[in-house]
Amino acid sequence: MVRVRLENLSKHFGKVKAVDNLNLEIKDGEFISLLGPSGCGKTTTLLMVAGIYKPTKGYIYFDDRVMNDVEPRDRNVGMVFQSYALYPHMSVFDNIAFPLKLKKVPKNEIRNRVVRVARMLGIYELLDRKPGQLSGGQQQRVALARALVKEPDIFLMDEPLSNLDAKLRIQMRAELKHLQRELGITTIYVTHDQVEAMTMSDRIAVLNKGKLQQYGTPDELYNRPANLFVAGFIGSVPINFIEGTIRRQDGDLILDGIDYIFKIPKEYIGILDHIDEGEDIILAVRPEHIHIKRGEYTGKVYVVEPLGRDKIVHIDIGAGIIRALVPGEEDVNEGDKIKFTFDTTRLHFFDKKTGKVIL
Ligand SMILES: Nc1ncnc2c1ncn2[C@@H]1O[C@H](COP(=O)(O)OP(=O)(O)OP(=O)(O)O)[C@@H](O)[C@H]1O
Ligand SMILES: [Mg+2]
Repeated sequence: MVRVRLENLSKHFGKVKAVDNLNLEIKDGEFISLLGPSGCGKTTTLLMVAGIYKPTKGYIYFDDRVMNDVEPRDRNVGMVFQSYALYPHMSVFDNIAFPLKLKKVPKNEIRNRVVRVARMLGIYELLDRKPGQLSGGQQQRVALARALVKEPDIFLMDEPLSNLDAKLRIQMRAELKHLQRELGITTIYVTHDQVEAMTMSDRIAVLNKGKLQQYGTPDELYNRPANLFVAGFIGSVPINFIEGTIRRQDGDLILDGIDYIFKIPKEYIGILDHIDEGEDIILAVRPEHIHIKRGEYTGKVYVVEPLGRDKIVHIDIGAGIIRALVPGEEDVNEGDKIKFTFDTTRLHFFDKKTGKVIL
């Protein structure tokens, strides 16, 4: 087990700052995710930790040792990629054994270690097959076994589940998480799928354009997003952003939009105290924190999307549409004029200019 620390870590490709001054600490045995859209620098970060890319600037520490100049093979990391890159002509056994053969581990020990990880991952019966004779999930486990057999200090995984169908992905998600807990190997997991990151990680580092946006537990990212980017990225049904100008009126605080006016609940008057009248802010509220058929606001139902347990109700509020997530049995139809309200303990306010949360 190893603690990993990235200090002012940057990687530039010509003018592109793929990773821009990243600071991150991963505790012994912790499972963290690097989460962000395509091109935000996730893979580049992982490859620097593995030693395949040299940083342009900054440092990588394993415990207190600077690793920048340590060769990849001496870092003792296990990597699993999106494309499992199994050798098609080799048996499952030989695929798993491959890293140990490279290290010239004695034959007997190779046999013991391969059998042990194969048993652990439930692929012992498949050791004689070729990768082409396996299902996607089984291939995935072989790739994991190959990374694990080295008994790495650190596990690096780059979108390892993206080739699997939805059902298998959910199953493997749980298996991976369980396995990581059992082995206690410090893990950095790369994904652009916020559900994957939220369900599996102790902490999540959200990246955008090479820059760290926020580093926190799933709970912190969901309940206390630091900026508009994180607020918009986390959440199965995307959060609503409602723009407006701050006005004060008879002791009330008003969010004045183009075509709508929201009275800001008094719970939030305190935090908005230092915002001048006329400033533009953004109110963010998650669909699950909007309640319909009651409350002080009105809108017209634009579209209803049934999801079984829930429904997404799109409400036209004049200058935009907001989404509410309501119970599936709620009777609501396109064209209905409906009332709605917000859960007044679950609102977020952001400065429109900086995108930062107003605290
Ligand atoms: N070898 C390279 N040469 C030049 N530019 C690169 C190279 N590798 C990555 N980049 C650029 O660096 C940025 C970050 O790339 P990276 O592969 O780290 O993104 P990512 O977050 O892993 O994206 P994805 O989710 O699509 O895999 C991108 O703009 C990419 O085009
Ligand atoms: Mg990538």
